[in-house]
Amino acid sequence: MNPFRLSRFAFPALLVASAALAQGAPTPTAADLGAARAAQLLELLPDGEEKRRFVLDCTGCHTFDARTAAPGGRARTRAQWDSAAHRMLSYAGATSGFPVIAAAREPATTAEWLARWITDSSLATIAPAPPRVTPNVREYLMPMAQDLPHDVAVDADGKVVITGMFSHTMYLLDPASGAMDPVAIPADRASPRAIVIDDRGAWWVLLGGPRRIARRDPVLGAWTMHDIGMYPHSIGVDPAGRVWFNGHFTRDPEQIGFLDPTTGSITLRDVPPHPVLAKVAGGPIPYELRVAPDGAVWISELGGNRLVRHDPAANTFRAFDMPTPHSGPRRFDIDAAGMLWIPEYAGGKLTRLDPATGRFTQWDLPVRNAAPYVVRVDRQRGDLWIGTGAADAVFRFDPRTAQFTTYDLPTRGALVRHLDIDPRTGAVWVAYGASPGVPARVARIEP
Ligand code: HEC
Repeated sequence: MNPFRLSRFAFPALLVASAALAQGAPTPTAADLGAARAAQLLELLPDGEEKRRFVLDCTGCHTFDARTAAPGGRARTRAQWDSAAHRMLSYAGATSGFPVIAAAREPATTAEWLARWITDSSLATIAPAPPRVTPNVREYLMPMAQDLPHDVAVDADGKVVITGMFSHTMYLLDPASGAMDPVAIPADRASPRAIVIDDRGAWWVLLGGPRRIARRDPVLGAWTMHDIGMYPHSIGVDPAGRVWFNGHFTRDPEQIGFLDPTTGSITLRDVPPHPVLAKVAGGPIPYELRVAPDGAVWISELGGNRLVRHDPAANTFRAFDMPTPHSGPRRFDIDAAGMLWIPEYAGGKLTRLDPATGRFTQWDLPVRNAAPYVVRVDRQRGDLWIGTGAADAVFRFDPRTAQFTTYDLPTRGALVRHLDIDPRTGAVWVAYGASPGVPARVARIEP
């Protein structure tokens, strides 16, 4: 795929506006539409299962912003949607090498549905976005504009470690000076996609292309590599120091595993097969992985719509189906009491699972169609932080009062895939990761 066609999206808004005027564009202008949140464009699509499936299949790499939905302020034709959808399936269809689009996705029906709802007249109903005030947000540009800052982690000194997935490099950001120092990874096309920092300060980094876990020693800075034999998605360290991962595209069997750092050995565990998708190309798409306070290892299935709990000692599994079909449980987190907090990417809700009772509770977010992507628990303060794919905003949720606070981000198209919280200051670090998307950056929110 070619995620680097940024130049054509970076044109000045003025130019777009005048071009659209010359064509007699409807109100609002192309510039207004360009300033619209993806959530406003998603609002034009009718709610329901078809929309949830669309959000899952078609807004995971890039957002559904004006650039995708209505370039130059005009609705795409059915033929234009059809040809784009064919190309997308060649990049990421269920039988491709990066199967993140469900097997059921077809260009013709997708194009028909989109062209029916995204029209020049439906676009004209989009209200110009109010100016945003973001005094407590600071953005930091990455050295390489076409990079994908996929994950962020705050270290014990308050510095921020960033995975440059497309530059194949790690970066260490000093928030005070804004300096971003590159840290090379000794692996070919390393594509670092996720990081955790353990209690001793070692970095554990998942390398996508090379299918490895890499450890960077906190004192020597030396790297150690461990082959894991599958394209990994997420990483977590358990109380015994074992490093867990899941296989993003495993399905039959669907697998998770762990590295025992004392021996270097890898142990794999088969997840109970998904009742439908284990036998379907693309499969359930294993996604987040988190270790609970009781040592249980949890994963979500983005396509499979389940949460699965693994007891490492007993080697048992238990699956929980999400309450809404195709809701897209994405990067969930677990609080100190063992509750799971799940962002429903396609369902648009914040959902809590109590593993003891199996009961789910759902909350609507302050912005409809926000595409909540990631939840992280601030263990020090008890709040939850929710990064979104379509709202250009991050939400804070106080579970004691069930109140949300919205933090607008300065940039349009700020698809937030990962976030981390500085335990000492409560500052929140977010990584924008649309592909293609805006020039690469991370942001700090000071609540
Ligand atoms: C694996 C990541 C990925 C997924 C999933 C994905 N896209 Fe894309 N999309 C891209 C990339 C990369 C580009 C830019 C390159 C291009 O246009 O081919 C793009 C560009 C586009 C464009 C702009 C094309 C143009 O000519 O300006 C449209 C429209 C689009 N995607 C629609 C979709 C739809 C509809 C789906 C769901 C079927 C989808 N995308 C799923 C990666 C993805």
